[in-house]
Amino acid sequence: MNVLRIGLIGAGYIGREHARCLRLIAPLFDGKVQVLAIADTNKQAAQFAARQFAIPVATANVDEVIDHPEINVIFSCVPTKFHLDVMQKAVAKGKAVFCEKPFAVSLEDAHRLHDLLTKNQTPHQVGFVLRYAPTYHALKKMLVTHADVSPLRTVILRDDQVFPIQGISHFTDWRSRVELAGAGVLIEHGIHDIDLFEWLFGPIKRVSARMSNFAGYPGIEDYIEIRMEFESGVSANMIHVWHEIGAHQSIRHFEIFFQKALITLDTYDMHHINVRDQEAEKTYERPDLFKLVKDDPLFTDVADREDLLFVSDYYALQDYWFVRNLLEDKPLFPTIQDGLRAFTLAYACYESAKKDGAWVATSSKKPA
Ligand SMILES: NC(=O)c1ccc[n+]([C@@H]2O[C@H](COP(=O)([O-])OP(=O)(O)OC[C@H]3O[C@@H](n4cnc5c(N)ncnc54)[C@H](O)[C@@H]3O)[C@@H](O)[C@H]2O)c1
Repeated sequence: MNVLRIGLIGAGYIGREHARCLRLIAPLFDGKVQVLAIADTNKQAAQFAARQFAIPVATANVDEVIDHPEINVIFSCVPTKFHLDVMQKAVAKGKAVFCEKPFAVSLEDAHRLHDLLTKNQTPHQVGFVLRYAPTYHALKKMLVTHADVSPLRTVILRDDQVFPIQGISHFTDWRSRVELAGAGVLIEHGIHDIDLFEWLFGPIKRVSARMSNFAGYPGIEDYIEIRMEFESGVSANMIHVWHEIGAHQSIRHFEIFFQKALITLDTYDMHHINVRDQEAEKTYERPDLFKLVKDDPLFTDVADREDLLFVSDYYALQDYWFVRNLLEDKPLFPTIQDGLRAFTLAYACYESAKKDGAWVATSSKKPA
């Protein structure tokens, strides 16, 4: 594609985040990346975002943006239930698309979305933004280095977040409504981690989960604990919690145990990784992490723009690579295959939880 003329659907938290990132990176593409319009059923939200990010058109009419003859790229940033509808309309009009996770409110709809994008060969990317976080790329390199010294034994992740129906970032309530969100903390937040875990540690062979619903919104689990076994034989434990501790920042806390080293990482601070081995403790700060990833093609070209893109702004990096790969007709990633795989794994956890934690096998074959 020669020039990208983008329409954003949804002007809430993540719609505005994409608007911010696209505005930040557009100057790097000499006029070839333009955000032309933003739609939101709440017209004031669309108008607010349009003013904030200098977007020419703001409307409550989603079709006006999708049908706009000049717009050739659509971002879907709506509550989860509506992604499928936005994608169906955008694909019918032959647009390239960016679809936010978690794509759908049921496994059937996730398959529909997968089939829609693959059968139509729609250029697309899904919003697994953690795949663009430099810290996780540095971590991935460290995993390889440490595996040369001693075997990986087990991985523990605790992911917690203030129930995202309140506060500055999340002031809408759809995440407490099962018909709009599909389910709770795992599908909404933990799906990032499931995708990340397979990317970091390889295929997951089986899962066992238990969950509960403390806040009491029907169908919305706000606690889930998952045991996993990877095909490599490594085991993992994941816990996802939604709580109401307003003074506590959302954290992903990782503990990665090798036989002779322990790697820890708290992702409220994406800029350091702590490693203890048999002799010493070392904290890798940002410059060390940057050195580890600077030869990675994902970061090479932006290395001299550390101010803009490296410093934790992985949302900007994600959008940077989406638009750059589209302009250069190169493969986009992650794809809906990755999306459906993570979605299927999450639903395997739900199946297990309904059977009181019985193990559920999770074929590692990615959907075609
Ligand atoms: N990748 C990430 O890190 C990330 C972060 C947050 C949200 N998300 C995902 O993005 C999606 C949106 O989440 P959010 O936090 O921005 O929600 P939000 O509630 O902040 O914003 C959604 C916006 O969509 C509008 N809307 C509702 N129905 C619509 C429709 N049918 N057509 C057009 N606009 C409509 C609402 O008025 C609202 O302004 C969800 O699927 C969520 O899971 C992804």
